[in-house]
Amino acid sequence: MNLDLLRKKDLTSIIDGSYSSPLKKELKTFDLTMLGIGAIIGTGIFVLTGTGALTAGPGLMISFVIAALACLFASLCYAEFASLVPIAGSAYTYSYTTLGEIIAFIIGWDLMLEYLLSVCTVAVGWSGYFQSMLDGLGIHIPTVISAAPGSLSHGAVSYFNLPAALVILAIATLISIGIKETKRVNNIMVVIKIAVVILFIVVAVRYVKPSNWSPLLPFGFKGVFAASASVFFAFIGFDAISSSAEETVNPSKTLPRAMLLALGICTILYVVVTAIMTGVVHYSLFANFIDRPVSAVLKMSGQNWMAGIVDLGAILGMSTVMLVMFYGQTRITFSMSRDGLMPKFFSNVNKKTGTPFKATWLFGIIAAAIAGFVPLTTLAELVNIGTLTAFILVSYSVLRLRKTRPDVKRVFKTPWVPFVPIMSILFCGFLILNLNPLTWIRFVVWLIIGMIVYFSYSRKHSKVGIEEMTKNMYKVRNDVNKDL
Ligand code: ALA
Repeated sequence: MNLDLLRKKDLTSIIDGSYSSPLKKELKTFDLTMLGIGAIIGTGIFVLTGTGALTAGPGLMISFVIAALACLFASLCYAEFASLVPIAGSAYTYSYTTLGEIIAFIIGWDLMLEYLLSVCTVAVGWSGYFQSMLDGLGIHIPTVISAAPGSLSHGAVSYFNLPAALVILAIATLISIGIKETKRVNNIMVVIKIAVVILFIVVAVRYVKPSNWSPLLPFGFKGVFAASASVFFAFIGFDAISSSAEETVNPSKTLPRAMLLALGICTILYVVVTAIMTGVVHYSLFANFIDRPVSAVLKMSGQNWMAGIVDLGAILGMSTVMLVMFYGQTRITFSMSRDGLMPKFFSNVNKKTGTPFKATWLFGIIAAAIAGFVPLTTLAELVNIGTLTAFILVSYSVLRLRKTRPDVKRVFKTPWVPFVPIMSILFCGFLILNLNPLTWIRFVVWLIIGMIVYFSYSRKHSKVGIEEMTKNMYKVRNDVNKDL
C-alpha cells in the first residue's frame, strides 16, 4: 500500500514514558461499571425487543446471549487497544498513532455513523415511549406526525416523527451550550434505569404463562441469529468504559472487571426481561405495539400505573444515552477536523460557549431529519454494521500490533491472544452476515462516500501529512546544501 496512506501520528513522547496524563485518575470499578451501564441500557431493551420477539420468538433470550458473547470478546480487544495509547480518545485516535491514517479515517468514519445514527435510533425509541406516556395522560399526537413514513402497522399513515426530531434538537441545544453529562447525573440515571427494569421484572413475572414459551424457536436458529444481529444494538456503549483508561485507577485490573460486570449485569437483565416479555404476551402479538413493547406488556396485564412508571424511566434513561452518543459524535469529528482529515468547520470552537457550536447544530439538524423520516430498525442495523466493522478492525489491530509493536507498553493486555481477537472477529463477522443485505449495501455506500472524502480532501489537508512534507523539504534542502 502507498506508504503515505499509512502515515502515523507521532507517539514517541507517550511510548518512551515521558508522557504524563493531565487527567486525574479517579475512576474505580464501581464508577466505570455505572458509566458502562449508563451508556448500554436504552432503546435496545426498551424498543428493539418488540421486533426481536417477532423475528426470533421466545428464542430472543438466546439472541441476547450470542450478542453479549460478541461484545465480550470485542471488549477485551478494545480495552487493550484503548490502553495501548493512554490518552483520552477513541479507536480513531488509537489507530492513527499505531496503524496509519487511512485505517484511522475508516474507523473514524465508521464511528461517525455509529454515533450519529445511534442518536437517531434512540430518539425514535424515545418518541414511542413519550407518546405512550402522553396517551396515558389523555394527550394524543396526530398520527401523521407520530412516526417515520411506512413504519406504522395496520395501514395507518404517518409522514414524520416529530417528537423524535424535537428531542434531538433539544439535546443539540444542551450540547451546543456546553452541558456535559456529569458523573453524578449519570449515576442517578443508571439507578433509575436499573430500578425500572427490575420493577418490570417483579411486576410482570406474575403474569407469565409458560405455554407462551412453546415453541421456543418458532423461526429456528435463523430467526435467533437475525435477532441477535439486531439486538446487538442493546449492548453498544460499553466501549465508553475502555475509553476511560487514562482516568482509571489501576486500569489493568479495573477495566476488564468493570467491562465484565457491566456486560454481565446487562446480559442478565436483558435475558430475564425478554423471557418475561415473551412469557406474558405471545410473541406474535408484539406486532401491535412494536414501538413500546416493555410498557405495553404491563398495560396488557392491567398494570397501567406501572406502565406509566416504566415509560417515564425509559424516557429518562434514553435521554442520557442520546446525550452520551451526541457528545461522542461531536468529539470524533472534532478530532478528525483538528487532524485536518475533516474541514475546519467541525473544530471551530465558539468563544462564548467553548463548544463546536455550529458543527453541533449542523449534526443536530441532520440527525433530526433522519430520525423524522427513517424507521427504527433500519437505523439500528446501520449503527450495528458500523460498530461491528470498527470492532473487527480493532480486534485485528490487536493481533497485528502484538507482532509489529511488541515494545509499546500496554496498560491492559487482552488475555488468550490470538484466541480472543479471532473469536471477536468471527462473532462480529457472523453478526454482520446476519444483518439485512440492504444494510450491507447502505454501509458500502457510506464507506465509498468516506473514501471520496478521504482522497479528495483529507489526504491533502492532513496535518500529519503536511508536517511530513515540511520535514522532507527541509531534509532535501539540507542535503542539497551539504552537496554544495
Ligand atoms: N445500547 C444503547 C441502547 O440500547 C445504545 O440504546
